[in-house]
Amino acid sequence: MFCIIDELFVCLFVYRFSSSSTMTDGDYDYLIKLLALGDSGVGKTTFLYRYTDNKFNPKFITTVGIDFREKRVVYTTNSPNGTTGKTLKVHLQLWDNREDRRGTFRSLTTAFFRDAMGFLLMFDLTSQQSFLNVRNWMSQLQANAYCENPDIVLVGNKADLTDQREVQEKQARELADNTGNIPYSRRVAAHRAEVDKAIATLLDLVMKRMEQCVDKPMTDAQNTDHTSKLDAAPANEKKCAC
Ligand code: GTP
Ligand code: MG
Repeated sequence: MFCIIDELFVCLFVYRFSSSSTMTDGDYDYLIKLLALGDSGVGKTTFLYRYTDNKFNPKFITTVGIDFREKRVVYTTNSPNGTTGKTLKVHLQLWDNREDRRGTFRSLTTAFFRDAMGFLLMFDLTSQQSFLNVRNWMSQLQANAYCENPDIVLVGNKADLTDQREVQEKQARELADNTGNIPYSRRVAAHRAEVDKAIATLLDLVMKRMEQCVDKPMTDAQNTDHTSKLDAAPANEKKCAC
């Protein structure tokens, strides 16, 4: 099925400028917004903090409302014949939030669902409940994301706590396979390399989708800046196979 992603591009455009006050260098090719989702306490903030600051905070301080972190990465495209393509400077915005059980933040989160281009859907391997709730998160995503089949990486966090494990690897993989064949990662927020891999997987999915969405191949568009590239794409071509 097809979905129009005009809004997604508008968001990219807006955020490029609205976030400039927090950035020292506006020199990047793409601004990509990712959203971390999952039950309270699964480790969303810890995960993102490890990714951006390479630090692990063992103390649990629940996130109030919405927060975000930023990081610059270099993404290398692959040409169809498998050879390495060009390198792109990507500015990542990683949005973090806490879903309040009483729904206080629900409307806020819903708005952020719509703007995000990829999702880190997290559960805690030591909490069966957080795993069961993945299906609810998935339903919310399907209802509120920019299309019915957005790019998601399912992350089973706290893999280091093996003696407290309540969710088995097989269950998690089955869930990932049964809900649209999304990539599954068993990750430990305490380990930098593990966290990097999960976000790299998600970024790769998002960039490949972007590549399909723009009217020119990404490598051809290299020499234009991102906003002009968006302006140049006719509205009736801003579609992606979702
Ligand atoms: P909310 O903000 O309430 O939604 O929670 P959250 O999902 O952001 O959880 P947070 O990152 O605050 O982590 C909760 C607790 O789990 C903290 O005490 C973290 O230190 C701990 N934690 C997170 N990831 C890991 C992990 O991979 N291993 C271990 N052992 N502890 C972790
Ligand atoms: Mg948090």
